[in-house]
Amino acid sequence: MAWRDRQAVREQYVTWYDEDEAARYDAKPGHGISLEEEAALLADMKDVVDLDRTLKVLDVGAGTGIFSRVLASLPGLEVNALEPSPAMLARLRTKLPGITSREGFTDAAEDAVHFCAGEFDVVISRQVVCGLYDPLQAFENWRLWLKPGGKVVVIDGLFSREAWSGKWSVIADKLPLSGVQTPALTPYLLERAGFDIRCVDWLILQRSGLISTFPCLHFCEPSFAMAGGGAAVPFPSPTAPFQQFFHVPLSNFQQVAQ
Ligand SMILES: C[S@@+](CC[C@H](N)C(=O)[O-])C[C@H]1O[C@@H](n2cnc3c(N)ncnc32)[C@H](O)[C@@H]1O
Repeated sequence: MAWRDRQAVREQYVTWYDEDEAARYDAKPGHGISLEEEAALLADMKDVVDLDRTLKVLDVGAGTGIFSRVLASLPGLEVNALEPSPAMLARLRTKLPGITSREGFTDAAEDAVHFCAGEFDVVISRQVVCGLYDPLQAFENWRLWLKPGGKVVVIDGLFSREAWSGKWSVIADKLPLSGVQTPALTPYLLERAGFDIRCVDWLILQRSGLISTFPCLHFCEPSFAMAGGGAAVPFPSPTAPFQQFFHVPLSNFQQVAQ
């Protein structure tokens, strides 16, 4: 068997994000979004996308709909969700019956069929890129799905190898962006996929110190624990290895490599 096996990783995701995990995911501190965090995330988004316009948005790897719900609260946004786990998707559909959702992955060439070319103004993913089997192919699909002038927003963390604990450690070494330690690699791959990077920054939550009150903001359960079992860590310097940072690479779709 090949060392890296796309189908095996896919089956593991769907098996592991089962009904129990979906319920746990929603209940984890930090996976739900507090009002304070919601406001900060929207402010981050508003820095890079004009959210007052009418926009068709795709939330890739939407999970149980945590970020889709925040986006759908904005009047002009038509939110669409793509999510491979039936259990996560079922929760999203219960929470957000009004949004269009689709079951599927994003990072194989065959996944391009999920949407039409030029369908979206914005493609966004939150805490998904670090878990992609084939990020470059995902970015190529996103570029295809974007309208000319459309934007990609990636919100993700810089996670240590040790952050992938328990069952998740089995696939961490097969996922190219699972343990990156600078915000450089994702923009580099976006560029290789034909994007023009406009902004890479820490989230307001991190810059303002708010994240220090949510030290395990994401992936804080033992199965996904930070080193030290998800224990609180002091507000970090940007080089601290075990704290979570977020970057928002914003890319403008360019008509290149067509
Ligand atoms: C950590 S959760 C993030 C969920 C959501 N974006 C949020 O902010 O709460 C990662 C999600 O990405 C999904 N996922 C994993 N691999 C994927 C892929 N290749 N394509 C699309 N989604 C994927 C998982 O099923 C899971 O729901």
